[in-house]
Parts: sequence; structure tokens; C-alpha cells
Amino acid sequence: MTTTSSALVIRPFVDADEAAVVRLWQACDLTRPWNDPHRDIDRKRGVQRELFLVGTIDEEIVAVAMGGYDGHRGWVYYVGVDPAHRRRGYATALFQAIEDRLIALGCPKLLLMVRDTNLQAAEFYRSIGYAEDPVVLFGKRLIADQ
Ligand SMILES: CC(C)(COP(=O)(O)OP(=O)(O)OC[C@H]1O[C@@H](n2cnc3c(N)ncnc32)[C@H](O)[C@@H]1OP(=O)(O)O)[C@@H](O)C(=O)NCCC(=O)NCCS
Repeated sequence: MTTTSSALVIRPFVDADEAAVVRLWQACDLTRPWNDPHRDIDRKRGVQRELFLVGTIDEEIVAVAMGGYDGHRGWVYYVGVDPAHRRRGYATALFQAIEDRLIALGCPKLLLMVRDTNLQAAEFYRSIGYAEDPVVLFGKRLIADQ
């Protein structure tokens, strides 16, 4: 468990967090019809769940990020901070916690996807040292969730 100076407590997700985490993702507009957040959490339970982190204030979940390491790159998904708790450094603290854990695993680079319309998130990532890579993302759905 990590406690930051801003009193945010960062810890791995536990099963009892599921409803609060999904509510937070919805409040952050991070859910999409083609991604069932409960199924996404179910999958993450079985794969590096220790990199799925939540940040709490007085035991209320106010920040979340789902990290992973595939042996070549680290990835982070579903990054969100409760709208009432933004601009207090919570996402920065969460990223520090994920980066520390990835470095401890020997992960050389962390990647993340940002929708090109999400200018505020892009500003946040730039502020903590991330830069755009000149790549186009290709994807193929292997399991349809809906
Ligand atoms: C992006 C997000 C996670 C940032 O969380 P946060 O806890 O408010 O971020 P921090 O307080 O750690 O911000 C650190 C710095 O990032 C930059 N930043 C953060 N939010 C910003 C915004 N809305 N506009 C411009 N810059 C911003 C600022 O430089 C900020 O430092 P400052 O407050 O001293 O100016 C949050 O706004 C959020 O949940 N957005 C909706 C969900 C989302 O878009 N997630 C990312 C998907 S890829």
C-alpha cells in the first residue's frame, strides 16, 4: 500500500471494489458499449491483478488505473479520477505507483492509448513525461462481448 502526501491511499483492486470502480469509470465516461466493464474486470482478476490499482480517500475510491506488462511493454488502461477530485495530483500519484511496479518487473517502456478527441487526457500525459509515438494503432476483436 502507498500513501501519498495528498492522503491518497493507493492499493491493488480487491473484489469488493468492483461496483465502485465501474461507477467511477462511468462517471469518467470511460465505458463503451463494446467493452463490458464487469467482463474486463473479470479477465483482469486472472492476469496481473496486482497491477490493477485504486486510489482512495477515506476509503472511498476516487482514482483507478489498470496496468499490465506483457514481457516487452507495459500498458495502462481505464485511467480515471472522480470529477470532484481532479487537479489534486491523484492521477500523477497513481501513475507513479504503476511505473514503480513496472520498473520493479523490468518493464522498459509504458504505453497507453488516448482517444484523439481527449485533449485533456493528452495534456495530463504530457505533464507527466509521456510523448506521442508516430504509430497507428491496429486492433482486431477476438472475443465479442456483446
Ligand atoms: C485525465 C485525468 C485522469 C487526470 O486526473 P487528475 O487527477 O485530475 O490529474 P493530476 O491532478 O494528476 O494532473 C497533473 C497535471 O496534468 C495536467 N492536467 C490534468 N488535467 C488536465 C486538464 N483537464 N486540462 C489540462 N491539463 C490537465 C496539468 O498539468 C496537471 O497539473 P496542474 O493541476 O498542477 O496544472 C482525469 O481528468 C480524468 O479522469 N479524465 C477523464 C477520464 C480520462 O480521460 N482518462 C484518460 C483516458 S486515456
